[in-house]
Amino acid sequence: MFAFKVSKQNAEAAKDYLRKTDLLAPHMHASREGDFVFFPVVKKAKVSASIPGNFVQKKFESVVHTPSFREALVATLGQKLGHEAIAGYDTVGTTAIIEIAKGMETYQTKIARALLDSNRNIKTVLKKESAMQGEFRVRQFKWLAGIRTYAVEYHESGCLLRFDLRKTYFSTRLATERNRIAAQVKPGERVLALFAGVGPFALVIAKKQPAAQVVAVELNPAATQMMVENVRLNKTANVLPIQGDVRAVLKKYPKWADRACMPLPHTGYDFLDDVIAAMKDGGVVHFYGFGDERQGVFDSSIALVEAAASRQGVQCKILEKRVVRPYAPCVFQVVIDFQVVWSQGPVVKKRAAKKQTK
Ligand SMILES: C[S@@+](CC[C@H](N)C(=O)[O-])C[C@H]1O[C@@H](n2cnc3c(N)ncnc32)[C@H](O)[C@@H]1O
Repeated sequence: MFAFKVSKQNAEAAKDYLRKTDLLAPHMHASREGDFVFFPVVKKAKVSASIPGNFVQKKFESVVHTPSFREALVATLGQKLGHEAIAGYDTVGTTAIIEIAKGMETYQTKIARALLDSNRNIKTVLKKESAMQGEFRVRQFKWLAGIRTYAVEYHESGCLLRFDLRKTYFSTRLATERNRIAAQVKPGERVLALFAGVGPFALVIAKKQPAAQVVAVELNPAATQMMVENVRLNKTANVLPIQGDVRAVLKKYPKWADRACMPLPHTGYDFLDDVIAAMKDGGVVHFYGFGDERQGVFDSSIALVEAAASRQGVQCKILEKRVVRPYAPCVFQVVIDFQVVWSQGPVVKKRAAKKQTK
């Protein structure tokens, strides 16, 4: 094919000129030889005298163009449907999870294949078949394209997690939270990783702070089994996985923990009394809930924490409140970090003394 040959000094100007005049051939890389650069062109043409160069014959390697997901959708479904089809997806390891809009089911395999074509890191495409359901917070999936598997390998903060998506809850979107909490854990801390799933909170904490002792409690036997395997894979001997109901297990850990994570936003409030009873004086709880921004996004979660603290006869000091992620229109998942203060006397007196001096 033809190439436009210019000296190195004129290469930038030549590239600009060839691009603007639509002479530059797409999907090809320019090549360099000594002091000259060769630009692949679609045809010979008159070039401005201000760009000194000449046309020569040359062979070029063509560059493989990977289309974007949207480009691949348009290529397979045509302009109209290709733009209507959803182009967002989540990934867990090399598995992509997509939602197919109502009415688009006929095209779901084409959509899944377009995703494989547009992203070489994706090996499997699954479709969400249900919302998170039941006590175990498990979702149903349907395989659409690529390697036919529901098993995933996922890396986070130096940990490797293996699990079956059909048998357990898992969300990559809590990675920031896991890191945030792990960064707070000090050597020697006793941590309760409650509602532990396949162990992401427990493992990230244990890996980051090997001198911490982590007890991880999960009700779902299949998820617990995968957590046991993940503890072995990551050589985190400082994690003790326990299969059972948090309420029953915590009875064996009165006033034991320096820290507890409660990532069960739908019904975690039901366990606040049990968790508070398992905290040492000064222990910190990370409590997850939901909040509606129209009613004060943190208000309902703080009210639940305060009510449980009052039932347990302790004080709770709110250390931090954060929005974790959007959940529904106007509704957000939130986290409330609070400290449990068993020895109320001095705290109450201090406040009273402050008031008196005003
Ligand atoms: C939202 S998931 C969080 C899982 C995990 N921490 C993660 O971030 O991937 C909540 C987990 O709590 C478990 N669970 C629900 N009720 C429980 C209970 N009473 N005792 C122990 N675990 C429970 C569910 O099976 C589920 O795996």
